[in-house]
Amino acid sequence: MAASQTSDAFVEFDRVQKSYDGETLVVKDLNLTMPRGEFLTMLGPSGSGKTTCLMMLAGFETATHGDIRLGGKSINNIPPHKRGIGMVFQNYALFPHMTIEENLSFPLEVRSIGKSDREAKVKRALEMVEMGSFGKRRPAQLSGGQQQRVALARALVFEPELVLMDEPLGALDKQLREKMQFEITHLAHSLGITVVYVTHDQTEALTMSDRVAVFDDGVIQQLDTPDKLYEEPMNSFVAQFIGENNTLEGVVKEIKNGVALVQLDEGEVIDCNPVNVSKAGERTRVSIRPERVEFNKARLQEGAHTLKAEVLEFIYMGDIFRTRLRVAGNDEFVVKTRNAPDQKRLQPGEHIEIGWLPEDCRALDA
Ligand SMILES: Nc1ncnc2c1ncn2[C@@H]1O[C@H](COP(=O)(O)OP(=O)(O)OP(=O)(O)O)[C@@H](O)[C@H]1O
Ligand SMILES: [Mg+2]
Repeated sequence: MAASQTSDAFVEFDRVQKSYDGETLVVKDLNLTMPRGEFLTMLGPSGSGKTTCLMMLAGFETATHGDIRLGGKSINNIPPHKRGIGMVFQNYALFPHMTIEENLSFPLEVRSIGKSDREAKVKRALEMVEMGSFGKRRPAQLSGGQQQRVALARALVFEPELVLMDEPLGALDKQLREKMQFEITHLAHSLGITVVYVTHDQTEALTMSDRVAVFDDGVIQQLDTPDKLYEEPMNSFVAQFIGENNTLEGVVKEIKNGVALVQLDEGEVIDCNPVNVSKAGERTRVSIRPERVEFNKARLQEGAHTLKAEVLEFIYMGDIFRTRLRVAGNDEFVVKTRNAPDQKRLQPGEHIEIGWLPEDCRALDA
């Protein structure tokens, strides 16, 4: 890769489409530009095209249409072994006939790194994944999670410029998973490695990434920083896929001064932020995060529309209270409040009024 490349386009997908059978597109129109050093996560349901995108970037699959560039050069013209890409795939295939140390040493030998250097790098990489004492074993003598950690160490041991990881922590328990999440991001940032990471786990995506691409059905639904994705979802799919979300359905009555008046199917009218609606008469799904719902009237804006709600369930969760309400016919409406000394604990059967700031209540596609 030319060192003179501008830093704003290290990995580029340019109008990429992929079909395996010549009929259905499993990747529909992918446009993505990653700067060097970015940690980007592809997040989405099973079958949405995430692994396919990684395979094309790695060079194991070719794009049906469009172009993929690495450091400004079309990857079609770079043989896979010269791409300097480290990979950890869903099936973490280690070389079964080699010991763990030999597995890790291999990518270094291929790159003609001297013996003492190799040994030091292998040792450090194994320690990083807490597998320091397993170097002499073969893969078949390890558990699934241990093999996964070795696969991770092998992908990082030669300090590649770009690392592709497809659910690398899937087989690990929660504690080790969280430790490895931290180790991976820390290592990637300190070495300046560019990472494309794939996961089903939205918490993992939000905590590890500089940006997250939310996939559905072969299309990036939204590509944004974690806080923007959570706080400013641009459509109903993203709103319900990322974090917990309350949904109310209705019709736009009016859009005025940046506020949409939405008449819910149950009849009530509420104030919303017109994010993905443009005119009166449109059907919409309104999205409100559980922690943005307010039932303390003193904290609501004057003149704001409120809704009647009945408390169905109060769940004490230690740091927060999670209260389930019936609101406009929806029995799964959730409110989250912090466990503070003055915080009211709502009781089942209580009738209350709830509201929110119009900007926190997003009118999205139906
Ligand atoms: N080699 C292949 N031949 C034909 N179809 C394939 C092939 N690989 C994947 N597909 C199909 O392409 C679509 C996208 O698959 P892909 O593996 O990219 O999804 P994914 O987002 O990685 O899913 P998961 O989260 O389950 O790993 C799926 O419908 C899948 O069945
Ligand atoms: Mg996959």
